Amino acid sequence: MKMLLVFFLLSSVNSMAQTFPKGFQWCVATSGHQVEGDNIHSDWWHWEQQPGKIAGGQRSGKASHHIQRLEEDIALIKSIGATTYRFSIEWSRIEPKAGEFDEQGIAHYRRKLKLLKEAGIEPLVTIHHFVQPQWFTAAGGFVQKDSPQIFMRYVQKLQQEFGSEIRYWITFNEPTVVLNSGFGLAEWPPGERYWKHWDPMIGILKSHALAYHYLHAQARAAGRQIQVGMAHHIRPAVPGNWLMRQLLPQVDYLFNWAIPVALKTGEVKGFTTKGFWFFRIPWRMQTQMEDLKNTQDFIGINYYTREYVDLSFLPPFLTRTPMPGLTGSDLNWGIDPEGFFEVLKQAHEVFPDQPFFITENGLADAKDQWREEFVVSHLKQLHRVINELGHKVEGYCHWSLIDNFEWHHGFGPRFGLFEVDYANGGQRKARPSLQRIQQIFKSNSL
Ligand code: FCB
Repeated sequence: MKMLLVFFLLSSVNSMAQTFPKGFQWCVATSGHQVEGDNIHSDWWHWEQQPGKIAGGQRSGKASHHIQRLEEDIALIKSIGATTYRFSIEWSRIEPKAGEFDEQGIAHYRRKLKLLKEAGIEPLVTIHHFVQPQWFTAAGGFVQKDSPQIFMRYVQKLQQEFGSEIRYWITFNEPTVVLNSGFGLAEWPPGERYWKHWDPMIGILKSHALAYHYLHAQARAAGRQIQVGMAHHIRPAVPGNWLMRQLLPQVDYLFNWAIPVALKTGEVKGFTTKGFWFFRIPWRMQTQMEDLKNTQDFIGINYYTREYVDLSFLPPFLTRTPMPGLTGSDLNWGIDPEGFFEVLKQAHEVFPDQPFFITENGLADAKDQWREEFVVSHLKQLHRVINELGHKVEGYCHWSLIDNFEWHHGFGPRFGLFEVDYANGGQRKARPSLQRIQQIFKSNSL
């Protein structure tokens, strides 16, 4: 009887307190161009000036006024119990002209890091979050043979100026998204079509490898511990028909795993050997890059939703659309926490010994109808990953701290924990769901 009681008590305590490990990082995320405003030397700024590129002809302009409201925003981060702030440095503020560094741009980030330090908030710094200087894009961006060296000039400057303040670096945010949107669908700069991914992908991977080794060498010399990784956008896919089902391993590999796996093995390839033999397409897309091997200290994962893939008659002969039948999110990115677990389980199998960092997770929800449910249900799955799979997770970043400029969608989608009143100098207002979310952050448990 006694045993039964103990068992009952233990199991109810266990199911009640879904506590996260000690030192777990509760993080909120933004990216420079989406929130700072006046990013006038960047390729995105240039892109936005062209008609038809952004929904409703919008432009990023002052974005979310993050530069003007920096102190206030850092106080907000602190007040909600976040331990960590993920943000990106804008290359075009640091180096607005090729080879010329801008003292004002550097001073801005120096101040930001100082304020974060004073507030006791850990910075998680993205070096390249989709946006780059217009001069770099105009010259061919990562297609240029010497792009890794050009990128490294910027990285070296960051390391010299801020290296002593940063423990967590993300070299690139979602390279597959940049490649698909900029070199496949022509929705983003540089506006290329017809799947010209390969050359810029190699440029990005070489740049990452150089940055990884350089940042580590510098940290070692200074006796500091750092972690360097990438943030990968991963979406499980559901096939639309039989043929698509045969192709699915390729699609999944290409869009989700090719880059993270390349960072582990050094083998860069655009196909997998899984699946129906006919679709193991041995294109020219295969190369071995020794320097790329083991160049991620954590697996950064951005997860939003599951998608539906189908064949189409028009190039690229493939459509990726929101999953029918799922609800929630103003962008139709249906809420699917099980998909989150699936992705992490898959990642656990591929990278059993490497910690995860959830670098983005969130939803567009102007009316704040689903946000609380979204966060709680995804964190439950994350808790399972830690407890059932026994996988180490460094932290969880919610996208986003504040509403912001959502790329070609403009200001429509509202991802913020804080609503931004764009018409009134960007005033911030906490969304109701934040009450529950900050309780989670502060108590380190669900
Ligand atoms: C991710 C991007 C981020 C934001 C969210 C909604 O893919 O990294 O900048 O646009 O989606």
